Parts: sequence; structure tokens; C-alpha cells
Amino acid sequence: VAMASSLRHCVLLASLLCAVSVAFTSVSGGGSGLGPITTNGRNYTKVCDPARFAAMGLEMGGFRYCDASLPYAERVRDLVGRLTLEEKVRNLGDRAEGAARVGLPPYLWWGEALHGVSDTGPGGTRFGDVVPGATSFPLVINSAAAFNETLWGAIGGAVSTEIRAMYNLGHAELTYWSPNINVVRDPRWGRASETPGEDPFVVGRYSVNFVRAMQDIDGAGPGPGADPFARPIKVSSCCKHYAAYDVDAWLTADRLTFDARVEERDMIETFERPFEMCVRDGDASCVMCSYNRINGVPACANARLLSETVRGEWQLHGYIVSDCDSVRVMVRDAKWLGYNGVEATAAAMKAGLDLDCGMYWEGAQDFFTAFGLDAVRQGKLRESEVDNALRNLYLTLMRLGFFDGIPELESLGADDVCTEEHKELAADAARQGMVLIKNDHGRLPLDTNKVHSLSLVGLLQHINATDVMLGDYRGKPCRVVTPYDAIRKVVSATSAHVCDDGACGAAADVKTVDATIVIAGLNMSVEKEGNDREDLLLPWNQTNWINAVAEASPYPIILVIISAGGVDVSFAQNNPKIGAILWAGYPGEEGGTAIADVLFGKYNPGGRLPLTWYKNEYISKIPMTSMALRPVADKGYPGRTYKFYGGPEVLYPFGHGLSYSNLSYASDTTGASVTARVAAWESCKQLTRKLGTAPLACPAVNVAGHGCQEEVSFSLTVANRGSRDGTHVVLVYTVPPAEVDDAPLKQLVAFRRVFVPAGAAVQVPFTLNVCKAFAIVEETAYTVVPSGVSTVLVGDEALSFSFPVKIELAMKD
Ligand SMILES: *[C@@H]1O[C@H](CO)[C@@H](O)[C@H](O)[C@H]1NC(C)=O
Ligand SMILES: *[C@@H]1O[C@H](CO)[C@@H](O)[C@H](O)[C@H]1NC(C)=O
Ligand SMILES: *[C@@H]1O[C@H](CO)[C@@H](O)[C@H](O)[C@H]1NC(C)=O
Ligand SMILES: *[C@@H]1O[C@H](CO)[C@@H](O)[C@H](O)[C@H]1NC(C)=O
Ligand SMILES: *[C@@H]1O[C@H](CO)[C@@H](O)[C@H](O)[C@H]1NC(C)=O
Ligand SMILES: *[C@@H]1O[C@H](CO)[C@@H](O)[C@H](O)[C@H]1NC(C)=O
Repeated sequence: VAMASSLRHCVLLASLLCAVSVAFTSVSGGGSGLGPITTNGRNYTKVCDPARFAAMGLEMGGFRYCDASLPYAERVRDLVGRLTLEEKVRNLGDRAEGAARVGLPPYLWWGEALHGVSDTGPGGTRFGDVVPGATSFPLVINSAAAFNETLWGAIGGAVSTEIRAMYNLGHAELTYWSPNINVVRDPRWGRASETPGEDPFVVGRYSVNFVRAMQDIDGAGPGPGADPFARPIKVSSCCKHYAAYDVDAWLTADRLTFDARVEERDMIETFERPFEMCVRDGDASCVMCSYNRINGVPACANARLLSETVRGEWQLHGYIVSDCDSVRVMVRDAKWLGYNGVEATAAAMKAGLDLDCGMYWEGAQDFFTAFGLDAVRQGKLRESEVDNALRNLYLTLMRLGFFDGIPELESLGADDVCTEEHKELAADAARQGMVLIKNDHGRLPLDTNKVHSLSLVGLLQHINATDVMLGDYRGKPCRVVTPYDAIRKVVSATSAHVCDDGACGAAADVKTVDATIVIAGLNMSVEKEGNDREDLLLPWNQTNWINAVAEASPYPIILVIISAGGVDVSFAQNNPKIGAILWAGYPGEEGGTAIADVLFGKYNPGGRLPLTWYKNEYISKIPMTSMALRPVADKGYPGRTYKFYGGPEVLYPFGHGLSYSNLSYASDTTGASVTARVAAWESCKQLTRKLGTAPLACPAVNVAGHGCQEEVSFSLTVANRGSRDGTHVVLVYTVPPAEVDDAPLKQLVAFRRVFVPAGAAVQVPFTLNVCKAFAIVEETAYTVVPSGVSTVLVGDEALSFSFPVKIELAMKD
């Protein structure tokens, strides 16, 4: 109890990691009553090994749960049926104790693999002599900027291979709480680096590709008729944090006490959408609920969200876990309904939560383990509800081969971690995610025939970045290639100027060199979990000295930005002495190589901004705590993201990104029309239409009741007139009919990254399903396709092509 106040202080001030470091000291300090449980040095890779049972004085043949000829469900029923209530409850927390009496070992559920295998948290993943590090890929916001679904899958595949290798060596478990798929609704959010940006469709597609590659063993989903609960998986991946979570700590708002007031339309259209895609299309085996409340109810005790939606509607094949430790948060921070630990435990389990991730200090346990027994004894929770949770957990472990092994994965070992191939993939991911924001008069790429001396200017942490590029939820990288190392390899006469004291003595030197590169930006003290940004400006006086360096330089300088969220670099946008701006994100362990490859033209950039870069004025118009995506007229809030904000405070829009090539579009398509036969009057839905527009008999069709076979196909030719091979991201949006009120300005419905060789043209075909691509979410939260003329809009402000699509809704007789 004495610890409680200092811990609370810790949680409020900082983040997960703060609390975890407390956890480490108290656990390793001993005397907690909970012995340290570790997988390090584990001497088995499957539970159902006769020798293992024999060593425990047990005969494996007596345990039906180890009979591999039986269906998983039956084995799991046998296992759960053998446990006493006390034993059951001791397996409801992330540090599951197992039950030696029946041969069940302990299991550490907590794993993180956001952008590579990570040892964040007190879970079972540990680096050491056998596996000193793992491939540290770029942060997710970088990979998102690549807009390349194959890349997202390739990263997930490499990460899961490294996990299985570490598992075989006793240095990792099999359950990982990644990806983070909350949309970046507000540019201040501290966790932008962890996410695929502001567009729910992109976030959803990222999750599907990453999760499939983490989990799928043969690259395919379950065959027709197969039991999806018995589909073997490589690593368990988790869609988090469900839902409407994207306020960490802003002014007095704190994620542990924040009650997100969310309209149903925003829930369906924005906050739930990536999760629906992650579960339905990705077949993720886990969902994590978030700390916050939603309209008064904690996300982790919300039966409607957990049981009805995730498990019922979306058919989750897996388990639901709390954030660490959101059940305690209900009691201690949110003080929800004045509940005590027993009541909160019962409410969360009844709502559908299966596993409680806790924080550990002073011998405290997770709430389910601490209060589960009393909850059943006091009649607030049924033992059958505990059994249900355990079945979801053990079915997941069965599918992972925890009991039986998975032969094709058992040969993986230390040689499969940090391979040359994985490091090259990390470099390529970083290259693909680089976004060229400004490039006046072809300032970039730098020509090594002309540039013989260089000045590299910036904070030491950016030019000599050994740490900053790795971002949050890192593991131990295989190695780190800094920008300085990589640039000096290309131009050996590169002098570094460190500007850490707020000013910069580089001005004299930049006068004498052939080119000046400034690396500037943010770090995890500015944008991180538990830490939202206060403004969108460059901190630490960087703007001032960048301008001074630009002023002193005889040539326009090059500015490289390290950040996740957008930075208001208006000063650089308008300054002709700053010739080029490259956004490098947090590009991971090979980031330096990728930056140099783009600066010197070894790689032609093709990334796009996955979120809007606003001018700083934007944030004074809307508090972070307002959840609405659409403008709120009576409060003067201007709307959020490219879908709903049409105002002047956009510095660089979502999807912005330049190339060294000169590209052009051509297409034969001039328009399309679709007649959808609507089954019955019941399928028609009303829409809010703009004043003065004529009423329609059937203004929109309800997607849920419609067959959805209609498609619109078109093909686009992308030509590269330049002399360099290039890659280009084709972004396809739809714009709803003009009469529809409150609709998105436009919405992304498809995207593809294509390679276009110099002087060549490639055909890019698209087929849009009408129910997916032309649907909007109307006021009462039905997903509908409006009747009328929608527009397909391809490209961005620099290069675009569009055509109308007329959608008619005709009654079936
Ligand atoms: C595995 O390790 C445990 C102690 O950690 C030991 O009791 C047991 O005999 C070992 N089993 C085998 C098969 O080596
Ligand atoms: C997409 O990513 C994959 C995997 O890294 C890569 O092989 C491919 O070249 C990328 N596509 C484009 C067009 O860049
Ligand atoms: C930059 O990092 C290298 C190691 O990569 C180190 O040797 C060097 O001293 C660092 N430079 C400064 C100015 O600290
Ligand atoms: C971020 O940079 C500032 C300014 O140099 C520094 O004080 C701070 O320690 C850095 N934070 C991290 C996490 O590197
Ligand atoms: C900020 O930078 C400017 C330009 O380099 C310099 O004149 C000023 O002294 C710096 N301010 C601080 C607080 O270091
Ligand atoms: C791209 O090509 C078009 C047509 O040839 C030309 O008008 C335009 O100036 C070129 N743009 C650049 C940046 O080279």
C-alpha cells in the first residue's frame, strides 16, 4: 500500500515503462511471494513430451489433453476440467502459474513485437548470449508510409521467424501484443510512431498483412469447412488497443481516467474499423482492450464491445486481454461505479475479458488472479465463465504448438535471427518509407561527382543516431547504422557539427563545403506513450539555428526530419534557402543507410505521408479530448484528418510525397454507371441530404442486407518520363455524391505501390467493390451506398485523374 502512491505518481507522469521498471525491481528483489518465472533456459519446446512428464513424476499417457489424436477443443476441455478453481484462477493473469500437479507449466503471456522482437515488459522474451539482438525494423509509421502491403507482410514474416527461433532457444514465448492499430485522430498523439497513421482503411490493411504474416504458417487462411479454432499459427498476434484510445496525457486528460465520448457513427466508421479488418480479414488470435472508458463504460468491461462485437459479430478465434493493467485502472483511477477488485474482476470477465495483464510490485498480482476466487465464491462470477476464458487461452496455445510443437518451425535457431536478409529487409523498409516532402529545382539527389565535401549538422542524437531511430517498443538491434556513418561512407570529407546547446557553430564551415545536410526533429521525450505533444513545432531552438545555417550556406541546404507525427516546418516550406525536405521518421537499425541511399539517389523515394501535417495553429482550434471526426459547428471545431478537415491549416496533406522521376497518368476510363437491384424497401435507408436537394424514394442501400456483387473496374497507366527507375504509390479515393450531407470529403479505398522503370509505363488495374468503395456511414451508423453520382479520384494535388460513377438503386420486383 505504501508503494501505491509512488506507483500512481509514476503511472500518471510517465508510461507503461515507468511502471514496468518498478515491476522489475520488486520482482527481482524477491520476497514478493511470486517467484520469478522465466523462460530463459527452458529445457522443453512442447508441453506434451513424455520425458518432461516423467521428470515431473507423471505419466503423460494419463492426460487426455496430451493426446494429439483428439480435437483441440476436447483436449482443452480435459485440461481445464482437471484444474481446481484455485488453479484456474492462478492462470487468468499474464504470469500464468500453470499447475505442476497436472503437468501444466507456467506461461508468460506478455510479448511485444511492434517493429521487431522486443524485450519490453516482464514477459518471456530475453536477449543474452545465445540471441544478443533481433532485427529492429523501422517504426510502424515509416512502414505505413511505404504503402506496400507486401512489405508489411514481409516484416511480419521476418519478425515471427525470429520469435520462433528464440522460442526454440528458450528465450521467447509465443504470444505477442502487436500491432497497435489505433488511428492517429489528433496530430498531438504521443503514440503516432507505433501506428500506421490516420486513415482507418490503411491502418486496417496494415494490420491484416502484418497479422497474417505473424500467424499464418502456410500463408493461407483456414480451408473451407476447416475449424478456425484448430488452425495452427506461427506466432499469436494481437490487435490493440480496442477501442477509441488515442489520448495518452494531454493537459489534465490522462488515459487511465479518460472517458471518450464517442458517437456511434465515429465508432463504426473510424475507431472500430481497423479492428474489424484485423479480426475478420486478418483472423488475429487476440484483441487487447484499452484503458479508457467509452461513453462511461471501461473498454475492458464493455460486453457490447467484447462479447457482442468482437466475439459475436466478428467471430474472434482467440482470446481477449486487458491492457496492463486496465482492470486495476477501473477501480483505482476511473473509480468506475465505486467497484472494488472483486466487482471489477467479475464485470470484466462477464463482459468477455479472458486474460488480465497486471503490473507487479510489492507482491501484488493482476486483479483476476487476486480477486477471481472471491468473485466466484461470492456468486458474482460463475466458474463456467472462468472455464470459458481458460478455454480461449489454451486453444490459442494449442494452435501455437505449445503442447505438441510444430515440426516445420523446430529447426529455427540463432542463425535465423539478424540474418543478412532480415537486415536488408529492414534497410529496404526504411528506404520505401522515406517521404520526399520538398525538392525545389531538383536539389536532391546529391550528385557525388559534384559534391566532394559535406557538412552534416544537427543534434548529436540525430546525426549520430544510435538510439533515436529505434523508437519505442524496441528490442536490442542487430546493429545500428547511423546517418553520419552512412553519409561519410559516400562522401568521406563529411564534417559533423553538433548543435546540442541550442545554437550551432556550423555557419562558418557550411560556407566552404559543397553541400549541407541538416538532420533535425523530435525524440521520444516529445512524442511517446504516456506523452502527447503540446505543440507541433520543432523543439530545442532547432528552427532558429536551422535558419541561421541556411542563411550562411551558399547553396540551398537539405533538411532531414526525424519524427513520427507531423512537424510544422512552415519556415522551411517557404524558405528558398532550404531546397529539400526529407521525412525519415524513426527508420530503425538500418536507418542511416536508407537516408544516405535517398539523399545520393541510390534509391528514388516513393513514400507518402500516412498522416496530415498541420500548421501549429490547427491545434488551438480543437482540444485533443474531442473525439468527433466531423466538424462540430457549435463549438467551432474544424474536423479531423484528411477525410473531414478541409481548412487552411494543412502544411502537407495526407498522401503527399515526391519522387525524383517525372511521372504521369493516363486512362481510357471516363466514367462508369452501376445499377444495384435492391431486394426490398427494407434495404433502403434514409440519408441526411443537403438542404434544397430533391428527396429520393431510395436514397441509399443498406450494405448489410445487400448481396454486394456490383463492381467498378478501371485501369490506369503510370508513365515514368524521367531517367531514373522509380516507385509510385497510386492512391484511389472515392468522393460521395455532392447532395449527401456530412459525408467525408474523400476516403481512401485502394492503394498500390508500383515499380516504374525509367522511360517505361505500367498498367495498374483496380476493381472496386461498390459496397466497400462507395459506402459511407450515415448518421445512425448504418453503412450504406448512396444513390447518385460519386467520384473516383486517383492521385494527389500534383498528379491526379478522376471519373464519375453513377449509382442507381432500382427496386427488384
Ligand atoms: C528440465 O528442468 C527442470 C528444472 O528446471 C528439471 O527438473 C528437469 O529434470 C529438466 N528436464 C529435462 C528433460 O531435462
Ligand atoms: C514492396 O515490398 C516488397 C518487399 O519488401 C519489395 O520486394 C517490393 O519491391 C516493394 N514494391 C515496390 C513497388 O517498391
Ligand atoms: C559518433 O558515433 C561514433 C560511433 O559510431 C563515435 O565513435 C563518435 O565518437 C561519435 N561522435 C561524437 C561526436 O560523439
Ligand atoms: C531528447 O532530446 C532532448 C534534447 O536534446 C534531451 O534532453 C532528451 O534527453 C532526449 N530524450 C531522449 C529520450 O533521447
Ligand atoms: C537559438 O538559436 C539562435 C540562432 O542560432 C541563437 O542566436 C540563439 O542564441 C539560440 N537560443 C538559445 C536559447 O540557445
Ligand atoms: C515533367 O514532364 C512534363 C511533360 O514532359 C513537363 O512539362 C514538366 O516540366 C516535367 N516536370 C519536371 C519536374 O521535370
